[in-house]
Amino acid sequence: MCGIVGYIGKEQAAPIILDGLARLEYRGYDSAGMAVYDGEKICTRKAIGRLKVLENITRGGESMPGTCGIGHTRWATHGAPSQRNAHPHTNEAGTIALVHNGIIENYIPLKKKMEEKGYRFVSETDTEVLAHLLDYYYRQDPLEAITKVLHRVEGSYALGILFADHPGEIYAARKDSPLIVGQNDTGCLIASDVPAILKYTRTVYYMENQEVAVLRGDSLSFYSMDEEEVAKEPATIDWDADAAEKAGYEHFMLKEMYEQPRTIVDTVSPRLRDNGGEKDITIEELNMTDEELKAVRKIHIVACGSAYHAGVTGKYVLEGLARIPVEVDLASEYRYRNPLLEEGSLVIVISQSGETADTLAALRESKARGIRVLGIVNVVGSSIAREADACLYTWAGPEIAVATTKAYSAQLAALYLLAMKFGRVRGVLTDTEFRSLSDSLKCLPDQIELLLGQKQKIQRFANRYLGARDIFFIGRGIDYAISLEGSLKLKEISYIHSEAYAAGELKHGTISLIEDGTLVVAVSTQPELYQKTISNIVEVKARGAFVMAVTNEENKAVEKVSDYVVYLPGTHPRFTNSLAIIPLQLFAYYVALGRGCDVDKPRNLAKSVTVE
Ligand code: M6R
Repeated sequence: MCGIVGYIGKEQAAPIILDGLARLEYRGYDSAGMAVYDGEKICTRKAIGRLKVLENITRGGESMPGTCGIGHTRWATHGAPSQRNAHPHTNEAGTIALVHNGIIENYIPLKKKMEEKGYRFVSETDTEVLAHLLDYYYRQDPLEAITKVLHRVEGSYALGILFADHPGEIYAARKDSPLIVGQNDTGCLIASDVPAILKYTRTVYYMENQEVAVLRGDSLSFYSMDEEEVAKEPATIDWDADAAEKAGYEHFMLKEMYEQPRTIVDTVSPRLRDNGGEKDITIEELNMTDEELKAVRKIHIVACGSAYHAGVTGKYVLEGLARIPVEVDLASEYRYRNPLLEEGSLVIVISQSGETADTLAALRESKARGIRVLGIVNVVGSSIAREADACLYTWAGPEIAVATTKAYSAQLAALYLLAMKFGRVRGVLTDTEFRSLSDSLKCLPDQIELLLGQKQKIQRFANRYLGARDIFFIGRGIDYAISLEGSLKLKEISYIHSEAYAAGELKHGTISLIEDGTLVVAVSTQPELYQKTISNIVEVKARGAFVMAVTNEENKAVEKVSDYVVYLPGTHPRFTNSLAIIPLQLFAYYVALGRGCDVDKPRNLAKSVTVE
């Protein structure tokens, strides 16, 4: 996730771009850059680090005069944060400059072809291939070159493009990445999000997928990929500035929950490839051959908090789909327990921030013992990402709310991909099973969207529990793993005491805490365990509990013993946690909201725990 801003008109472009980028820093902040047409040529400046650095080296934009420019704040995906990888990227002559948000999924074969044609790449990004492709197709007609290039690329993009020989124009295009166009009395703007341009205009045009916009100082036009002009009506934004940063959502947590479908697409689609009609998983970042993967005898997953909970789900999924033994450890325990790590072990550390002190220490401990470490990390270029032997990035983009939602969902998706890969190379998964898993994986984003659509219903239910003292979450097997995460979400943001229990374990002590009206959230998504969990629901009901069940549509029997049921759409039994977590996140969010808690910044917590 990156931020884009562009301006063309009567004003100086660079200060407007810097101001807009500052409001988009939540989208990425590891490097930034601008390209401005100075009357003769396109000048480009880039800086590693926060936007402040770019502001300083350009003296607030003063050193880049010109009224037409584009800018970018980066959240690295392909290629570590560095000056070379920062945007804008240009063709070799520097006559075409572009900024990009999204992922060009087929950039490797495209790059190879362009290199064969003699093009020289200077960065490790997927984006640079677009600059060279534009150069290749350019015959003094920008629109023609852009549509030709975009017909060849797969993936997602929001683009701002300058052509030195069309100095009075900015070209923009989008597919599956956000980009809006604004207009005021002085000129036209592009931006990844509304807050960037709110200070300058409230008149915006929403670009549809696969549209190209041409911005001039005093006019705007939109085109389809067939270069047909498209008529568009402007919309008026009536948000205040604070709401705008959160794209109209009340909290970052809610916004991030809504970003989960996109996050799963971004994490899965570049790795789940279609090879001539047959699906296959390619995880280039693993740096391991199929033979090396086959030789792995045991997996240790090590993490903290929600990332640990993702690991607990991972154990069920990896063991189920690949029949490989998996141990899961809390990093703070693992580092001091002198774990038995045999040859042929693989350690997987999971971390959103990539900076969690205990997880980093666990990584170092494993490496010191000669064990290969794979990181599943969200923040590109973070310590864990750099120190792990290999790193599988979860492309969730920056997560601002302290309580993780979208990064957790992306971690689950990454673990599914790994489990399918291991299942494949170990010969456990048949072609039919693999196909059914791939199909289920592809459906998850839409199914999550459906569940998010139930937010009002969950909010009404949550409002009944604002005064609760204790709330319990129970489930068996993989449902226990999601109970852990549901319970953590609730307690960290609502400050209500909550515990998660393996449903069968409750009667060994904890059931004594169940009183009249105590809420028990029972998760039941595994058909072979439906009956067992129903028995546990009946046990707590007999002690006065009020039961909210989260289960599959087919499990109608649960209605007879529960007080409130949330049904999940059908998916593969190993992937149910990606769906079950949605009502649990919404429930936690609305309980916290109703109690007046600071949802995005709960007390006593930090987003990244860099101390032991
Ligand atoms: O950055 P990490 O994923 O390593 O962080 C691990 C935990 O601190 C984190 O998941 C924490 O539990 C969150 N607050 C949960 O919402």
